[in-house]
Amino acid sequence: MLSRRKFIKKTAALGSFSFLGTFAPSEQLKPSGPIAIATWGNNTKATEQAYKILKSGGYALDAVEQGIHIPEADPNDTSVGYGGNPDRDGFVTLDACVMNEKGNAGSVTFLQHIMHPVSVARQVMEKTPHVLLSGDGALQFALQNGFKKENLLTDSARERWLEWIDKNKYTPIISRNNHDTIGLLAIDSKNTLCGGCSTSGAAYKLHGRVGDSPIIGAGLFVDNETGGATGTGLGELMLKNLSSFLIVEYMRQGIHPQKACEMTVKRMVKKYGTDHQAAFVALDKKGNYGAFSIQPNFDYALSYQDKTIRKASDSYQH
Ligand code: GLY
Repeated sequence: MLSRRKFIKKTAALGSFSFLGTFAPSEQLKPSGPIAIATWGNNTKATEQAYKILKSGGYALDAVEQGIHIPEADPNDTSVGYGGNPDRDGFVTLDACVMNEKGNAGSVTFLQHIMHPVSVARQVMEKTPHVLLSGDGALQFALQNGFKKENLLTDSARERWLEWIDKNKYTPIISRNNHDTIGLLAIDSKNTLCGGCSTSGAAYKLHGRVGDSPIIGAGLFVDNETGGATGTGLGELMLKNLSSFLIVEYMRQGIHPQKACEMTVKRMVKKYGTDHQAAFVALDKKGNYGAFSIQPNFDYALSYQDKTIRKASDSYQH
C-alpha cells in the first residue's frame, strides 16, 4: 500500500508504552538495555511486541520471531505474509530468515500457504542440518512440523492483482515503492543479538523469483560480536552486493551503524544508480543504531527504555 511508505508525521499512543512520535534523522537518542529496531515506521507494533519480550527477560530470537509475526498476520500489510501481494500468476510466495547469536541461520524461500514463514525459518535452523529450504520442500517441512496450510491471498490482494493484470500487460513491476519487507534486530537483557526478516517479495514478480530477504548476508546479517543489519527495497540490488554483510563488516572496523549503512548505500548507488529503493537499519553491540536509504521515503521503528518511536532515515536522494 503506497500510503504506508509515506512519512507519517503524526504521533499516536501505542499500548502501554509511550510512543514518542517521528524523529528527524539527525536526532539520536542513545539507548541502553534491550532494544528492538525494524525496517519501516509502520512496524512500531512489531518492535513493541519484541520489546515486551526483551523487557521481561526473554531471548532476543523469541522477540524477533514474535515481533515479525505481527506484520505476517496483518491482512493490511501488502508486502509480508497474509495479505501480501501475489506474484504475477496470483500466488503468494514468501521468503524469510533468522540468524542467532551463535552465527547460525535458517531460511525459507518460495514458500506458499504458511502464515509465519519466519517461524519455519527458525525451525530449519533449529531442527535440520541445513540453512535454506525452498518451495515444496519448505512447505512439506512446515507441515511436518505442525504448521497449518492456509490461503494467504486475501480478497483485496486478489482484486489488486486482477486490476494490475488489466493495466500492466502481465509485466512484473520494478518500482521503488512496491516493497516493505520487515527486518527486525533485537538485543536482549543478556546483550544477545539476533535478527530476522520476512516478506512476500516484490509485487507481481515472476513466479519463482526470490529476493534478498531469505539470503543470509543480503537481507540480513547478524554477528553477535559486532552488530546486525537488515534491509528492504529491491532485493536484486541487495543480492548483488550482500549489503547486510557489508554493513556488519564496516561496523566490525569500528564504523558507527549510521555511517556503515550510508557507506553501503553509496557503494550500491555508484554501481547501480538511483532508480530503485534500497534501505537498511543496523544496530551494533553497544546499542548504537543507524539507517540509510537510496530514496527519501524510508523510516524505521525503534523500541527501547519503554519507548517506541518511528524515525525518518537519512537518504542519498532528497
Ligand atoms: N526486499 C524484498 C524483496 O525484494 O523481495
